[in-house]
Amino acid sequence: MGRGCQAAAVGLTGGTATKVSLTLDSIPTLPGIDSTLAFLKDGYLFASKRCARLGSDAFHTRLGGRPVTFMLGADASRTFWSGGRFDRHGSIPPTATHLLQDNGSSQTLDGEEHRHRKRMFLEMMEPPERDRLRAVFAAEWDDAAGRWQEQGEIVLHDELQSVLTRTAMLWAGLDLRENDAASRAFELGEMVENAGRFGPRNWMARTLRFRTEWWARGVIDGVREGSLDVPEGSAVHRLATQTNLDGTLLDRAVAGVELLNTVRPIVAISRFIVFAALCLNEVPRWRETFAAGDDSDLAHFVTEVRRHAPFFRVMGGRVRRAFEWRQHPFSIGQWVLLDLYGTNHDPRLWPEPYRFRPERFRDWPGDPYTLIPQGGGEYLHDHRCAGEPVTIELMREGVRALSRSIEYGVPPQDLRVSLRHFPAGPASGFRINRVRRSRATWTV
Ligand code: HEM
Repeated sequence: MGRGCQAAAVGLTGGTATKVSLTLDSIPTLPGIDSTLAFLKDGYLFASKRCARLGSDAFHTRLGGRPVTFMLGADASRTFWSGGRFDRHGSIPPTATHLLQDNGSSQTLDGEEHRHRKRMFLEMMEPPERDRLRAVFAAEWDDAAGRWQEQGEIVLHDELQSVLTRTAMLWAGLDLRENDAASRAFELGEMVENAGRFGPRNWMARTLRFRTEWWARGVIDGVREGSLDVPEGSAVHRLATQTNLDGTLLDRAVAGVELLNTVRPIVAISRFIVFAALCLNEVPRWRETFAAGDDSDLAHFVTEVRRHAPFFRVMGGRVRRAFEWRQHPFSIGQWVLLDLYGTNHDPRLWPEPYRFRPERFRDWPGDPYTLIPQGGGEYLHDHRCAGEPVTIELMREGVRALSRSIEYGVPPQDLRVSLRHFPAGPASGFRINRVRRSRATWTV
């Protein structure tokens, strides 16, 4: 267990600054037949611990009996994301794929077909649409804050999931009835919550997902048939009218999957905002700074939360065409897992990586392969997250709202963050009480 942002003062337990030294010419193999149990036990720290021990940026082992190569660091990240060396086919278990990006999505495409689809996502979230999304979020937050005032205590994580579900749907062009909004919020939350699990909870989430897919296909059909009216240019309208490279309309199931790939991650931003709340709570001078209206470090604060917070642990790829990395051959089909969390805490890139220190970003040059909570490389040509700018925008709004638009208490609770469990978050979900709106400082 670690203590969220108290890491600023004490360092995450078990996650002390890992010393990763450079480069071996050959890639070592872990002793033992299979590392599945160790991977589950060590969670987010699995690869960085072993890289430190071996003095290498990569090692071979087996997971679930299959050979896999773990890689970590800026050089590995550059190799992973640039140059189209990897594809995503079969690189994460179907139990996770089905709950996240899924078959037919942008993530599974390569080359021109990928760029064509990715362009749609990037256009969908260009600055005017990003601003509109932020404004919808601000209004939904304000609305919810009115209800929170009436309640003794709320769980911020759960509330934010609802607020962001309504935000995502309204922005995308859909005004859901109260019941539908609650069902969708639950289903979308369960997808992320159970993507790293195996067994009954994963099966349950996947069964729920069939219901959400059915709903999403219905939305696409409705727009195409003219029975559902959505604003032209809205995300739903774009998805329903999107074509493949050959000009044919996107298959209704694929369009439905991409609708989920638009709304689900917006809802998942709730996890980052909860981490931001944890950091504001544990390092109060930041809350005071933002409350006083000084936003000069707001962008750095949000970036540091994204670097520091344990979200996606690894990204998987299969070698598409053979290449050499540090004189070591990678052959077609080889399975590689790039350690996102380990790279975001690599001491060569981030001095004192387990300290929460937004100031480190004041003079950060912005290398697209070192800060990789949402992937690396370029937006259009590589698989870097299309929603990263939107994530940053909504997190900034969330931090402003937590510092300026409401006052609240934080009752005693278990705020520890387990680095074993994916996706990680404070055990209590971050409970707050005595919520009061401070309207005077509210800006939309
Ligand atoms: C909650 C915070 C988010 C995290 C941690 C996250 C993480 C990631 C990661 C790690 C990738 C890289 C996948 C790869 O290399 O194969 C990715 C891709 C992607 N993300 Fe996000 N994401 C987030 C938010 C969003 C949002 C808000 C949207 C859309 C509104 C979005 C849409 C996408 C899409 C469409 C891709 C596929 C890009 C491609 O294949 O080219 N994500 N995301």
